[in-house]
Amino acid sequence: MMKQFPPSELLQSLPKQFFASLVNKVAKKMAEGHDIINLGQGNPDQPTPPHIVAAMQKAVANPKYHKYSPFQGYSFLKRAVAAFYEREYGVTVDPEKEVAILFGGKAGLVEIPQCLVNPGDIVLVPDPGYPDYWSGIALARAKMAMMPLRAENEFLPDYEEIPENVAEKAKIMFLNYPNNPTGAVASQEFFEETVSFAAKYGICVVHDFAYGAIGFDGRKPVSFLQAEGAKEIGVEIYTFSKTYNMAGWRVAFAVGNESVIAAINLLQDHLYVSLFGAIQEAAATALLSSQRCVEELVALYEARRNTLIDALRQIGWDVTAPKGSFFAWLPVPHGWTSERFSDYLLEKAHVVVAPGIGFGGHGEGYVRAGLLTSEARLQEAADRIAKLGLF
Ligand SMILES: Cc1ncc(COP(=O)(O)O)c(C=O)c1O
Repeated sequence: MMKQFPPSELLQSLPKQFFASLVNKVAKKMAEGHDIINLGQGNPDQPTPPHIVAAMQKAVANPKYHKYSPFQGYSFLKRAVAAFYEREYGVTVDPEKEVAILFGGKAGLVEIPQCLVNPGDIVLVPDPGYPDYWSGIALARAKMAMMPLRAENEFLPDYEEIPENVAEKAKIMFLNYPNNPTGAVASQEFFEETVSFAAKYGICVVHDFAYGAIGFDGRKPVSFLQAEGAKEIGVEIYTFSKTYNMAGWRVAFAVGNESVIAAINLLQDHLYVSLFGAIQEAAATALLSSQRCVEELVALYEARRNTLIDALRQIGWDVTAPKGSFFAWLPVPHGWTSERFSDYLLEKAHVVVAPGIGFGGHGEGYVRAGLLTSEARLQEAADRIAKLGLF
């Protein structure tokens, strides 16, 4: 008989994957043959730009990359990261000391608590927020303290609300703007306020800049590192997944505070060697070549945003347009929970949205819709919802 090995206490302590049940419900509906419009996920629908694919195709044939990559990654990629930050944000970083190459943003975000905190330490987490922050905190056996993001505060945390004894025990603060799930953006002033709060309590700020390229209405999202003193107190995580539609490639980087970069590199020395060299070469190509593809992608998402928001307003749904990211954060009608409402849309309209409660307690009252399908399908989703007569 096959022996069942029980999972460790550590594995059992990991947060439940809330969205797994939604994925199952959607798969069941699809298997029944329904035409489902899935706005529930965050997987970019466009392909990687051809010049990046071509760079990869060429690099794959280079025998240099068939060997182990150097530990901590190739210097050419770290120099490309430094050139990118200088060009895009006017921020100077030392490529060898202030850049770490990551196996996707998720890996870095999960690694950082293991690098910096001890069991029982507190990590400040945005609520609602990206659930993978919780995983790294659980792996480090640390505790979470939630920072509510409220519409009336433009989905920014209010540092005055954090009790003194919590701030004193906090070691890390996660932030993410443009924000998943709310679509909110942050200003340089907000990041400067963050730096002074974090410096007061010695908290390491980890700014997840996953949607850094995606700002609407002509506004380029601000990098945390543009704030005065940011590098002294934190790091920024930047992924290729969204800017260049490279989610499947698993490549990202951390930039900022030297001691945090050294800690990430040390942990990764124990876990891995480094990414496949050809991926590193294609990633450098993405950063250093024309950013026209990024402008086109942002224009595509903005057109989709306009279509969805206009269509929802036309059916009487009072929604706010996101300023960045590729998500719309939509209030559920009075008297519904986010989960019941998303189940209802799936059942009756065959439209999938992600219930806000899956992103934390303060996500209740909202659902998240992704802009990752064509304008025609977004319009159709609104038309199907209109027929339910809810608004
Ligand atoms: C807020 C946020 N951070 C990080 C990530 C991780 O991106 P990746 O691991 O593909 O770099 C995502 C992906 O959906 C995200 O939404």
